[in-house]
Formats: sequence, structure tokens, C-alpha cells
Amino acid sequence: MRCCEITMNVTVIGGAGYVGLTTSACLAYKGNTVYCVDIDQSRIKRINEGSSPIHEGGLEEIIEAVVKEGRLFATQDAGNSISASSAVFICAGTPSKKDGSIDLRQIIIATRNVGRSLAKKDEYCVVVVKSTVVPGTTRSRIIPLLEKMSKKKAGVDFGVCMNPEFLREGSAVKDLLFPRDQGIVIGQFDEKSGDSLLELYRGSEAEILRTTLDSAEMVKYARNAYLSKDISFANEMANICQQLDVDYLDVKKGLEMDSRIGRFLNAGIGFGGSCFPKDIRALVSKAKEAGIEPAILEATLRVNENQPSVLMNIVKRALGNLKEKNFAVLGLAFKPGTSDMRESRSIPIIERLLAQGAHVYAFDPEAAAEAKKFFGRRINYTSTAEEALRKADACIIVTEWQMFSDPKLYDYLKGRFIFDGRRSLDPRKLSHRFIYHGIGFPEGTKS
Ligand code: UGA
Repeated sequence: MRCCEITMNVTVIGGAGYVGLTTSACLAYKGNTVYCVDIDQSRIKRINEGSSPIHEGGLEEIIEAVVKEGRLFATQDAGNSISASSAVFICAGTPSKKDGSIDLRQIIIATRNVGRSLAKKDEYCVVVVKSTVVPGTTRSRIIPLLEKMSKKKAGVDFGVCMNPEFLREGSAVKDLLFPRDQGIVIGQFDEKSGDSLLELYRGSEAEILRTTLDSAEMVKYARNAYLSKDISFANEMANICQQLDVDYLDVKKGLEMDSRIGRFLNAGIGFGGSCFPKDIRALVSKAKEAGIEPAILEATLRVNENQPSVLMNIVKRALGNLKEKNFAVLGLAFKPGTSDMRESRSIPIIERLLAQGAHVYAFDPEAAAEAKKFFGRRINYTSTAEEALRKADACIIVTEWQMFSDPKLYDYLKGRFIFDGRRSLDPRKLSHRFIYHGIGFPEGTKS
């Protein structure tokens, strides 16, 4: 046992997904016995073999240890798992519908299953919603469904909490084991529900906010909205700097010297991933439903959608017609440290290159297998960055993996143009190349 004095039996529904698996593994690592329930048989098999079906730093090692120690069990059997547990986490996905609003189908299915199992359970147990859901969902959709399926009463026979996750892909294990930087938010149906969940966080040094279910749901959206708004602000400033031949990186340093100003100010081709875009769209939709015009949220999305075009305009101004030109695309994942391609900026950029008749040689140290689901055989996947660069008239940096920051790497580039979509290279170390990342344009190329 590593940290908790009191340990529990816990079921995690949606346990083989990104949030579910990280939650399951870390709860087991802290000494609890965890039943990781999912429908994906191949993932269940892998987890029970002690290996991780997703790429996330440190997760593989933890899963290997806790499976060996007999504290993590992956299974399809929600009923027996819940009957043995005193806390049940719901970690189902909440993707966007076509109109941007939240799609609750997976949550509803998971809730029904939990409710059915609660019907057969005599002991009190707390149901914890971890999935990101718009304010009001736990109170007005999840609790009534749990009560209907279980024929029991929330607050009497079972407890309910909303406990948003604040995991960042690439550092999710650290975020979960040491939530000190982000705090813990416990939305509680009643005091007893909150007390039951708190047992799992006993010993944590993080600040804990206990609040209503709706407020906890809103904290999650407000945080993601705040951070993505900062990124779009940074992009707008950088776009202005670019037109005025001002170095945005110096402006950024100047901004960061003011301790009141945020830290999500890296400008470039915009934000992607499984959270920011879908969460902002869901909040826009919920706000409109409530009669609010969310001007800042809509502008955040608009700026973000436009950033790949900003880059492509620079590419076209420098190279003219792109037909039959070869591009090395460095990085495919939505950010470094993950194989996740969801809403990655590599998608609109590569699609635009292909639409204009260019050839793409792409390299990513982790995401190539995922990328094949998006691009199939329409692009070439190289096994090293050098291989992509050797063939290329120009290079576009899409994901700022550490390995791409070595200036010597670009000696392999056949052509002269580097378009740094993340402002990750130091132009002074690459003076023999034209690098475009917002510091003016070579003679004659500026419109
Ligand atoms: C984000 C939040 O940072 C987490 O706090 C939150 O828990 C998580 O969403 C979630 O809702 O589950 P994540 O999507 O893993 O985490 O990644 P971030 O590091 O926030 O990056 C998101 C996107 O923004 C990436 O495409 C990244 O390249 C971009 N970004 C980030 C910028 O363009 N500029 C920046 O300054 C920072």
C-alpha cells in the first residue's frame, strides 16, 4: 500500500478509456482494489496481462505493478464489480454531436448499467461522475435514471458526487497522483456523498473544494474555456505581430513577466485534442440553450479554426503553387507526449496540402498508427524525421516533440523552407534556412 490509510473497493465504468484507465491504475497504485469495467475485450485482455492499451507516460509501469500485486482487474462484468465496491466511477466518453452539443449516449448507457447493479446491492455506495458533462446533467439526467433503474433513493440508499478530471495527456499519471497544482473539486449531492468520496483522497495535499453538483460540472468547462481562450488570444496577438514584423516570442516573454497573465500563450496552428474543442462547443451550445450569446467562446473557436489557414497562406506565399511539391510534416499527434490524433491540427493542414496536389512525408514518434485511421495511404509515413526531410522541398512542424528542436536535424532538409507551426525552433540557430514563425518574411514574399 503506497499512500492511503483507508482503502476501498472501487469500480470504474469506462475503465479502459483514457480517463478511466488512468483513474483505475492510479487508484489501484494508491492501495485500492479496482475493477476496471469496459466492453472492449482486446483492451481488457491487455490490461489483465499487465500492459497499457494507450500510450501515456508512466501508465504502463503502474499497470504492470498493480496487476502483478492483484489490485487491478479488468472485466466486462459490471454487476459483480459494483456489488463488491463502495465507490463507482463513471468515466464514459462525452463526444460532440454534429451541432456541437454534448452527446450523452455513452453516459446514459453506463448510468443504466450502474442503476441495474445498484438494484441488487444492499450496502450504501457512492456513484461518482468523472466524465465531463454540462451543468445540470448529474442532477437532472443521471440521478433520476439511477433512481429509476435501481428503484432506490439518492442520498438514502446510495450517494452521488461529480468529481471532474483535470488530467493533461502526457502528464495524466502525475496529475492524478499529485493533484496539488490543480486541486480537487467534489460536487456532492449531500454531505454523506461528499464524505464517502473524500475517503479516497485522504492524505492528499491538494486544496479541496466541496460544492454542488452543477458547480463542479461548470468548474471543468470554465477551466477549459479559460485556457483555450488564452491560446486564441495568443494566436490573435501573434497574427498581428506577424503582419507588423514584430517578434511574438519577445511579446510573449513580456506578457509572462506580468504575474497576472496566464501561461497558455504558445501561439501557432491552434489547439486540438479530445477536450478543448469539444468542451468549448458543448458550452457554447448549453449557453445558447440558456439564452446567452457566448461571444468570447465563439471567438475562441473561430480564431482556432482559422489558424491552419494562417499557416497555409504563409506556405503558399513562400512556395507558390504546391502541386507536386514534397512536404515533410513533423508531428501528427495533437500535442507531444501522446499518440492521440483527436482534432489534431495535423488533420486540416495535411488535408489542405493534399487538396493542392502536394505530397506528404510524415513522421511522428508515437502517432503514426493512429494517423493511418485518418489519412490511410494518402500520405507516406516515414520511420525517422531524417527520412521525411531528405525528400522534402519544405518542412512543416505540427507537433513540437523535443526531438524536432535539434537544429542539426534540419541539415537533412532537401529544400530551404521550414514552417514552424509551433514556434518551437530558435531561428538564430538555423540562419541558413528560411524559418517562418512570425518573424517577418524573406524579401519579396510578403503580400
Ligand atoms: C486539457 C487541459 O489542459 C487539462 O487541464 C484538462 O483536464 C484536459 O484538457 C481535459 O479536459 O481532460 P490536454 O487536452 O491533454 O489537456 O492538453 P493541453 O496541454 O491543454 O493542450 C491542448 C491543446 O492546446 C494542444 O493541441 C496544444 O498544442 C494546444 N496549446 C496548449 C497551444 O496551442 N498553446 C498553448 O499555450 C498550450
